[in-house]
Amino acid sequence: MAVGGGISAGNGKQYEGRVTPFVVVACLVAATGGLIFGYDIGISGGVTSMDEFLQKFFPTVYAKQKNATGHESQYCKFENHMLTLFTSSLYLAALIASFFASATTRKFGRKISMTIGGVVFLIGAILNGAAMNVAMLIIGRILLGVGIGYANQSVPVYLSEMAPPKLRGALNIGFQMATTIGIFAANLVNYGTAQMKENGWRVSLALAAAPALIMTIGAIFLPDTPNSLIERGLKDQAKEMLQKIRGTPNVHDEFSDLVDASAVSQQVRHPWKTILEPKYRPQLIITCLIPLFQQLTGINVIMFYAPVLFKTLGFEDDASLMSAVVTGLVNVFATVVSILVVDRFGRRVLFLEGGIQMLACQIGVGVLIASVFGVSGNGTFSKGLGNLALALICIYVAAFAWSWGPLGWLVPSEIHPMEIRSAGQSINVSVNMFFTFVIGQLFLSMLCHMKFGLFFFFGGWVLLMTAFVYFFVPETRNVPIEEMNRVWKAHWFWGKYIPDDAVGLSHKSSDHDA
Ligand code: BGC
Repeated sequence: MAVGGGISAGNGKQYEGRVTPFVVVACLVAATGGLIFGYDIGISGGVTSMDEFLQKFFPTVYAKQKNATGHESQYCKFENHMLTLFTSSLYLAALIASFFASATTRKFGRKISMTIGGVVFLIGAILNGAAMNVAMLIIGRILLGVGIGYANQSVPVYLSEMAPPKLRGALNIGFQMATTIGIFAANLVNYGTAQMKENGWRVSLALAAAPALIMTIGAIFLPDTPNSLIERGLKDQAKEMLQKIRGTPNVHDEFSDLVDASAVSQQVRHPWKTILEPKYRPQLIITCLIPLFQQLTGINVIMFYAPVLFKTLGFEDDASLMSAVVTGLVNVFATVVSILVVDRFGRRVLFLEGGIQMLACQIGVGVLIASVFGVSGNGTFSKGLGNLALALICIYVAAFAWSWGPLGWLVPSEIHPMEIRSAGQSINVSVNMFFTFVIGQLFLSMLCHMKFGLFFFFGGWVLLMTAFVYFFVPETRNVPIEEMNRVWKAHWFWGKYIPDDAVGLSHKSSDHDA
């Protein structure tokens, strides 16, 4: 990873410097931020399928589940709003916290936000591990959510500011990669703790403290970014820091660009008002729709509830948790594919191919479940059909993992001009968290009421979003962030929103498609 020589500024310019150990450490800290996010996504589904956990906290769900066979619809055996609140409360807390985090990150620096995130998350993990009643459980989840809100707001910002511009794209997907590793680790932990005679769920929940500790300690020892130091008027320190992270005393060009960029963005006093101006309409719409669509792929049905879903399909307890491990592993490996091809083939190809693949699998799973359970919800999957459903779900997860998973975070982060970038990023995070909450909260009810139609429902959304990408999302591969307005200007639909003076005359014309 030690890359010597110049660092591309992303606008044809070369900054001096190399990839130093500092940058590598920043990557690791960012990765632990992703691990925390992922661990949470993966842990709750397994825990909510453990008998002991249900008996202790949700006895009515437990009773309903045990009595379901033969009498009650398979579709409804897990429906319980307190149970879904356990999973989804975290995302509501994260959504609210991310607004506070954005103010903290701007005023006091990235490091403070990361530290707050780690500490609050740690307290949440302890409370969850020690939970005696539902209240402790939910309060713990809310604290974990606040931690995630702070971490997801500050870590990516920290990372993209520390990273040399040339590595920014890969590092961005690195964060998603860490998220998938976190999910997979949680799946494995659940599989292990489910074998314990008692308190397995406690161990699963308490182990969230491990990534939180790593992140908190990392945040305490890491320096703040040059950008943040400049923003807070500490120019000398900022210059020293830049020299240290780039491994050269010769940082004049990059430093003066940072000072200029900070001056421009400080002229915009109200980024939230500015982003509503008509000339930013393309970015605003895409930044709202991409996280919305990402959640409407239905991925978190699998990520949160895979063990529950597999139990619904008639898998044994062990097989259900094992199947969640399998989908978790597919998620990790398919993300690597995206890292390898995203800068070669572009974002659109991945979006479109991933969309078609997901749609085909959703139709397949819907038909399969309809043929076995029908509308009544009574029936049993044979081993062969169960395995076919598992295979289809894996192919679906792979498609998500190389398309909407990483691109859902990457694309919104690269389409905004500097003056509205942070506001745009906050919208992206909060829309994502909000719809993660909605899906988390509604899924078990939707399954109960829409039955196999739920898979067609998400399939319909995937069809819509794939068509949307085809017509409205321009290719951003290899386009310097500073020249992104040219892509919008050249677009058949969005072009009319971009004023001529927003596209510098000194730039050469771009030739990007769509
Ligand atoms: C999404 C999460 C999802 C995860 C799955 C992320 O990009 O934001 O909601 O659970 O991918 O890997």
